[in-house]
Amino acid sequence: MLATSPSASQDIPVGVFDSGVGGLSVLAHIRQALPQQSLIYAADSLHAPYGSKSQAFIVDRSIQLSDFLISRGAKALVVACNTATAAAIGELRRRYAIPIVGMEPAVKPAAAATRSGVVGVLATSGTLLSAQFAALLESYGRQVRVETQACIGLVECIERGELQGAATRKLLQKYIAPLLEAGADTLVLGCTHYPFLRPLIEDIAGPDVVIIDTGAAVARQLKHRLQDANLLADGLAGRPGVTAFWSNADAGSAQSVISLLWGKSVEVLRLPD
Ligand code: DGL
Repeated sequence: MLATSPSASQDIPVGVFDSGVGGLSVLAHIRQALPQQSLIYAADSLHAPYGSKSQAFIVDRSIQLSDFLISRGAKALVVACNTATAAAIGELRRRYAIPIVGMEPAVKPAAAATRSGVVGVLATSGTLLSAQFAALLESYGRQVRVETQACIGLVECIERGELQGAATRKLLQKYIAPLLEAGADTLVLGCTHYPFLRPLIEDIAGPDVVIIDTGAAVARQLKHRLQDANLLADGLAGRPGVTAFWSNADAGSAQSVISLLWGKSVEVLRLPD
């Protein structure tokens, strides 16, 4: 049974998952927003990228990852993946009676921020082709022009830890150039892997382009959901929460890439295939 009092909730983790290491960009915001909350992160790197996979495959993986996190005691889930949210959040919400926070490309804030009236969205093809994204455009994209770009191959660069190399820059240039040519002055990072390329994206897009990602908003949303469910770990002793990392990539690469992206050396446990 789930704990319901804040003090009892301290050591009960929130589970966070992604197709791979991208969701670490969201996890960093959650760690900052909820310093006393224990967190457990599952990187499904063996099956990344999700962007080109079928909805049935992504739903199946999302269920397996959620089952794993719940088996480790998770009291709430964050789907730190735009592609998995679009494909599977409905099914997850039907299955599990715990708070589940998902994410979607930040079209609404981008539409409010643009001065040129053109917004560029970088995301996976899975996200861009989803019914959820179509609904997002219908609700918030009507007053502006939304140019979309599926970034095939980019997730793989980040999964390899290639954040700065010539090949990564070349791919980004190819994907960003048409958006800038179309007049976009606001770029939405609609995939949780892409914030790790922010320095390169800023360099390519130049200082006049606003770049928006949703990691901080998702962390705020999680905090509200935990508060509403009386599940917030407020840490009577002020003890910092533990962060546990699980991945099904091969052990050496999981350890080095997750440590690189997390900014310090961490232990990575073996997630079931
Ligand atoms: N990080 C993911 C997202 O936010 C998925 C990328 C992928 O595996 O294709 O969409």
